Amino acid sequence: MLAAPFDKTKLLHNHRVAGVTGSVIPTPGGGHVHQIFVNTDFFFNHFHEVTVTTGPAILIRDGDGNIIGHVHAIIGTTSCTFFHTHDFKGTTLIQNPLAPIGCIAFPPDSSDWLKFEED
Ligand SMILES: [Fe+2]
Ligand SMILES: [Fe+2]
Repeated sequence: MLAAPFDKTKLLHNHRVAGVTGSVIPTPGGGHVHQIFVNTDFFFNHFHEVTVTTGPAILIRDGDGNIIGHVHAIIGTTSCTFFHTHDFKGTTLIQNPLAPIGCIAFPPDSSDWLKFEED
């Protein structure tokens, strides 16, 4: 997450966030998004709230083209605290990254699996 307001340098700092997304929110066409509600870390005397709805799932493939999971893009602005906000953009991390190689993230009969199928 980036630093001071565009034309200011006195409050130059950044924050970090970590957390988990909310549950799946189905969208028309079989996809889904998530909501994220987390606080940033502290800097000096403040932190910010991050409240954002992700974009749709972006498939992640291994070197052989196999789907190994998905991520979501996020973009937004933090809450205003101590007279400033921070704009941010990024992605979530792949879900269940510790699953054994070869395991699928969702059972084939789940609704989440449907959005991963090839056209
Ligand atoms: Fe800040
Ligand atoms: Fe997702």
